[in-house]
Amino acid sequence: MFWALFVAFAQVMGEGQQGWQPNPELVKALSQRRPDVIYDEAKVPPYTLPDPLVCLDGTKVTTPELWWKKRRPEILELFRTQMYGRAPIGRPSEMTFEVFDLDRNALDGKVTRKQVRILFTGKPDGPSMDLLIYLPNHVQRPVPVFLLLNFSGNHTVHSDPAIRIKPIWDRAKGQQVMPSEDTRGSSPSIPVEKIIARGYGVATAYYGDIAPDFPDSFRHGVFAAFDKLFGEKRPPDAWGAISAWAWGLSRAMDYFETDADIDARRVVVLGHSRLGKTALWAGAQDERFAIVISNNSGCGGAALSRRRYGETVAIINKAFPHWFCENFKRFSNREDEMPFDQHMLIALIAPRPVYVASADEDLWADPRGEFLAAKAADPVYKLLGTEGLPVQDMPPLNRPVMGTIGYHIRSGKHALTEYDWERYMDFADKHFKRATGKP
Ligand code: GCU
Repeated sequence: MFWALFVAFAQVMGEGQQGWQPNPELVKALSQRRPDVIYDEAKVPPYTLPDPLVCLDGTKVTTPELWWKKRRPEILELFRTQMYGRAPIGRPSEMTFEVFDLDRNALDGKVTRKQVRILFTGKPDGPSMDLLIYLPNHVQRPVPVFLLLNFSGNHTVHSDPAIRIKPIWDRAKGQQVMPSEDTRGSSPSIPVEKIIARGYGVATAYYGDIAPDFPDSFRHGVFAAFDKLFGEKRPPDAWGAISAWAWGLSRAMDYFETDADIDARRVVVLGHSRLGKTALWAGAQDERFAIVISNNSGCGGAALSRRRYGETVAIINKAFPHWFCENFKRFSNREDEMPFDQHMLIALIAPRPVYVASADEDLWADPRGEFLAAKAADPVYKLLGTEGLPVQDMPPLNRPVMGTIGYHIRSGKHALTEYDWERYMDFADKHFKRATGKP
């Protein structure tokens, strides 16, 4: 009897609807605040995802060879031309690195700190990105490293007085301003000491060093330096800001390849929110990233656009017109016409491990849509001989699952928390085959 009821319930709930459920009070409150936004699962329209293993010409991808030779390049090209925009490929020939700080006894002697200025055009007055790197002293070199961009400047991630303060963008004024000393350590979303204690290095750079985050972005940063068409109309597939930030992450990787203290074959790229979208796009394109992690990346990141739950393509294109290329605007309110969806972005990372994380109160980012995208990437992971995602349904709160695809939904808000970091280090331990990671 109980079993029959359960089966009936499962059928009513439909495919992929089991496991975690959003707090109904929150759904109600958010729906009242934004009646134009879907927060109620029952209002999600029916949709069919494009099959990641069927080519545009209908060819079925039944072998890894077909994936690598035909379908993967095709999907990559779709995201390049239709969504994020096309960035310059590869390391710029004129780029140089300037290690302007090296302290092998930083943070009570436990850490080696390096600061490296990446001069994208080799010119000191051109765009440059400062990479702040902390490496553990108690583990054998070269060490694996977590790489992430930050929102407010390197000096905000830690109170270390040696972090060089550089101008940051005032988004309201559209200008660069010099931050004050008292903003040191004001945005502590990187638990440096904990990461070091587990034997990992961490490297970060300010995303605004690459390109500012406002609609007029294209006049500045790497766009101004690399766009040959600067001043003219931009082509509809010209790189948007997310593509530029992702490109910057690959330039950090270029540096890692030159640093004997860093294991460039064990770099984990991660990001939160818009920078989670960025980490996925960086990891999808640049196969040097060994593990890719999306923290609460939502629409335009890990969440399926076709669900239209929380933030939608139309909303994001309107609010952040500079994030994606012009072609992507054609899909506002026309998600079903997209020849791709975000599960295919995750699939581009295969067979490398990928972790998608959601937060219980972050319904704007559509946690279920993030899980379902990870799940819909699973056939590609399986085709390439990996374990893929080991569950069918969304796990309950704070119960991470870790196959080649990892997923968790934790309690709390839209943020990158210590809980998230601990899971990411567990995931890296598992895939880098490190015993415990602990000293
Ligand atoms: C907004 C935006 C999201 C984005 C987030 C962030 O909420 O709508 O798409 O992920 O900002 O980057 O914090």
